[in-house]
Amino acid sequence: MASRNCSNFFPGLTCSLFLLLGLLSFPAEAAIKKYQFDVQVNNVSRLCHAKPIVTVNGRFPGPTIYVREGDRVLVNVTNHAQYNMSIHWHGLKQYRNGWADGPAYITQCPIKTGNSYTYDFNVTGQRGTLWWHAHIFWLRATVYGAIVIMPKPGTPFPFPQPNREEVILLGEWWHTDVEEVEKQGQKMGLPPNMSDAHTINGKPGPLFPCSEKHTFAMEVESGKTYLLRIINAALNDELFFAIAGHNFTVVEVDAVYTKPFTTEAILIAPGQTTNVLVQANQKPGRYFMAARPFNDAPIPVDNKTATGILQYKGIPNSLLPTLAQLPASNDSEFALNYNKKLRSLNSPKFPADVPQKVDRKLFYTIGFGKDSCPTCVNGTRLLATLNNISFVMPQTALLQAHYFNLKGVFKADFPDKPPKPFNYTGAPLTASLGTSRATRLSKIAFNSTIELVLQDTNLLTVESHPFHLHGYNFFVVGTGIGNFDPVKDPANYNLVDPIERNTAAVPTGGWTAIRFRADNPGVWFMHCHLELHTGWGLKTAFAVEDGPGPDQSVLPPPTDLPPC
Ligand code: C2O
Repeated sequence: MASRNCSNFFPGLTCSLFLLLGLLSFPAEAAIKKYQFDVQVNNVSRLCHAKPIVTVNGRFPGPTIYVREGDRVLVNVTNHAQYNMSIHWHGLKQYRNGWADGPAYITQCPIKTGNSYTYDFNVTGQRGTLWWHAHIFWLRATVYGAIVIMPKPGTPFPFPQPNREEVILLGEWWHTDVEEVEKQGQKMGLPPNMSDAHTINGKPGPLFPCSEKHTFAMEVESGKTYLLRIINAALNDELFFAIAGHNFTVVEVDAVYTKPFTTEAILIAPGQTTNVLVQANQKPGRYFMAARPFNDAPIPVDNKTATGILQYKGIPNSLLPTLAQLPASNDSEFALNYNKKLRSLNSPKFPADVPQKVDRKLFYTIGFGKDSCPTCVNGTRLLATLNNISFVMPQTALLQAHYFNLKGVFKADFPDKPPKPFNYTGAPLTASLGTSRATRLSKIAFNSTIELVLQDTNLLTVESHPFHLHGYNFFVVGTGIGNFDPVKDPANYNLVDPIERNTAAVPTGGWTAIRFRADNPGVWFMHCHLELHTGWGLKTAFAVEDGPGPDQSVLPPPTDLPPC
């Protein structure tokens, strides 16, 4: 099969160097990068079982997309699998170009079996690590990969130049067919089976059965510095990640540079990316890298540790690796402190343009609910809600309905605050929840500044929720435990150098306040990046209106946009 994909010829780093050298000799020109993604089913064996999984180009994890800031990217996706699907370029802003964003039934209908669609987008004003994944049901369990955006030529990293870099994709693995796992859960109205392993670059590591050969290893040379591009592609678990004996210096999250800080472990929620520098400055040996969930809510979670190996050059494989220390699974303290340390770099070159004045304030509560379901185990099905509304997926893509003014697909009346205020984080509320199900969006004026407070509640249970907004980065101006106090809490906001990102965790029984300027017209999905909760309806979308200028409206749809 002919492949236009550089990373198929040159694995990982070699490819990025290849591109780097190539571009240095032809500077300044924005390039067009073309990729062919063949979505297909392949047999893959893990944990002593083989099973068919959906892959891109037969690879698991999928190929890395290497681009440079300013490039135009064309990814032609051909779907050979039996599932209709779409791919999302997580964290790319897609200015005026929601058609290339990818969430099924939000910006496009899925690509049907046997069909193709070319995602055509520019990478503007962003550099760092992002990722791509299938965006329909639970297919992203195996259909995911990294996006590496190198800075413009002549623009160095604002941190010491690493000698080498490596992509680290954290994931989850199920023994059985993941689409079946999800369907089973839907049928029962309960959470489906949790995963059987976590993975590092698709490999669970030697603490799992039959996994000696499914262990990710990274060779390092003493005295050198490595840039790790870490991505949490897990479906349902926030993860700690650490390497035995080696500190990390965090330098970037979600393709935004941070004020560097050192830490023994990072915390990373599904959807998030974190770039860290690691120095090979320890006694030459073998050191475990490890990933394990953070969970401080009263609910069960797959608690198994995935491991990989950091191996100094010349050290034999027979040496037993040193074990990595991770924070305790329920270490809320670590989580709060870690998130507090994350600050935008906010340098003259990379300023943090935080909206100081807010045009519209939104307050969304996060909770669970139930729907009657006579065929389900308890006669009810679990739902998840924003302002007590569980989102119903439409049959037509919302962006098409918005662009062509189609009636009856959605209502633009999502409430700015919950119907009735209550003690959000008091005793668990289990009866008369009053949950409704609907396709309701919020209409947002072009270029208005929005503050959204996401408040976790004890509707059935408290839990931590990593919220992702498509089409934008936002600033995390504040966060806290308990009920948000609209009088006192804003006084403590960080409006100088808050972290800017595309996915932020709302702490268990707490709140998070984000701000953004609505300067990207289109329909933009916002949802919890725990696939379990998204599936239960923990999502909505913003319909951002066109602006008055010639370059401020949604672009016309591409001719090959998949029909519904
Ligand atoms: Cu990475 Cu809508 O998701």
